[in-house]
Amino acid sequence: MLINNAGIALPDDLTDPAVLERHLAVNLFGTHAVTQAFLPAVTRSRGVIVNILSVNALAPLPFIIPAYSVSKAAAFSLTQSLRARVAGQGVRVHAVLPGPVDTDMLRGSDVPKSSPESVALAIFDAVDNGEEEIFPDPASAPIAAYWRDSPAKLLERQLAHVARGSS
Ligand SMILES: NC(=O)c1ccc[n+]([C@@H]2O[C@H](COP(=O)([O-])OP(=O)(O)OC[C@H]3O[C@@H](n4cnc5c(N)ncnc54)[C@H](OP(=O)(O)O)[C@@H]3O)[C@@H](O)[C@H]2O)c1
Repeated sequence: MLINNAGIALPDDLTDPAVLERHLAVNLFGTHAVTQAFLPAVTRSRGVIVNILSVNALAPLPFIIPAYSVSKAAAFSLTQSLRARVAGQGVRVHAVLPGPVDTDMLRGSDVPKSSPESVALAIFDAVDNGEEEIFPDPASAPIAAYWRDSPAKLLERQLAHVARGSS
């Protein structure tokens, strides 16, 4: 199992492209680079890739962390494409979309947070259950039921099928 967990979140206002690039470097290109490095081994073992994203992949926090949100949305799209491309080789690719978790990233923020331990356990349970998108905490969990039948998920399935058929 490859877990892409590393990430940064810096407050910004979208005025400085360097801040956007910094987020993309870690949250998108870091995930991409590590995945490419380990993909042969994961494929040989018919393993699992778990990308730790955020609910902000689905909807941004425009006045707090918009650049982070852009990078997580991009990493979600990367996750979806990778999922389709390696499915035929027996590799499963999961997207984890947590709400606030009590780690250094949210130190100083007084929003309600879930414990890292509870989130980690929920992620492993959901991977065992084969859930493609994982909403591992009380803040994100209500999205799960809507997500499965959402237009975005239906379209993802349709387009992945078209891609397989035409390759
Ligand atoms: N905390 C939340 O509320 C929350 C919510 C949704 C999603 N997430 C996601 O959860 C993941 C883990 O975040 P966290 O909450 O545990 O944040 P964290 O406490 O700030 O930890 C971030 C981790 O990423 C590593 N990292 C950052 N930049 C790196 C780089 N360039 N190369 C290698 N490692 C790097 C850090 O390593 P060093 O300590 O060595 O720098 C650290 O281990 C992230 O992808 C984050 O976006 C967090």
